[in-house]
Amino acid sequence: MTKKRVAVLISGRGSNLQALLDAEQDAYEIALVVSNVPDAAGLDRARERGVEAIALDHKPYGKDRAAFERDLDALLIERRIEIVALAGFMRVLTPYFVRAWAGRLINIHPSLLPKFPGTKTHERALAAGETEHGATVHLVVEEVDAGEIIGQASMPILPGDTPETLAERLLAVEHALYPRCLAKLAAHLA
Ligand code: GRF
Repeated sequence: MTKKRVAVLISGRGSNLQALLDAEQDAYEIALVVSNVPDAAGLDRARERGVEAIALDHKPYGKDRAAFERDLDALLIERRIEIVALAGFMRVLTPYFVRAWAGRLINIHPSLLPKFPGTKTHERALAAGETEHGATVHLVVEEVDAGEIIGQASMPILPGDTPETLAERLLAVEHALYPRCLAKLAAHLA
């Protein structure tokens, strides 16, 4: 099987990117990492592994999201990218980009979707009195955090948990989940 060429889009520390790099396997290879934040720590993680890592700062584009995404799209096409994986990428993508990559654009979200789309998922899970929490890898569609679910993993919420302890424990769950789901998508794509 030819490995699918994956680009990972990040904005920050890139611990999920690290998990995807560490788990590289038959179905996919991380061919490119792009960050919209020029000093994102995740860029160094990629470079240390010999993976091309590019900063595409969104700031010079101002409010012109479409222009930023056109350049991003052109870069992905030039590098022959087949799947785009969002990993802590803090820009909402416009319908233009989402449609262009439909079925090949995935995200990891820190909740058991459809519960708690959007932000502050740990706070909201605690406030709702949930007994379990988790993470979801899903296809990206125009509506935020609403695309088809590729995989989920859950963990118990323990007495005394805070948003911080939940976030920390959940990160390890995410790191196991994301590579598995990316491999699953890669294997299913023609
Ligand atoms: C993770 O919690 C992920 O679920 C969310 O953003 C965070 C990214 O963390 N989408 P990292 O940059 O991968 O460490």
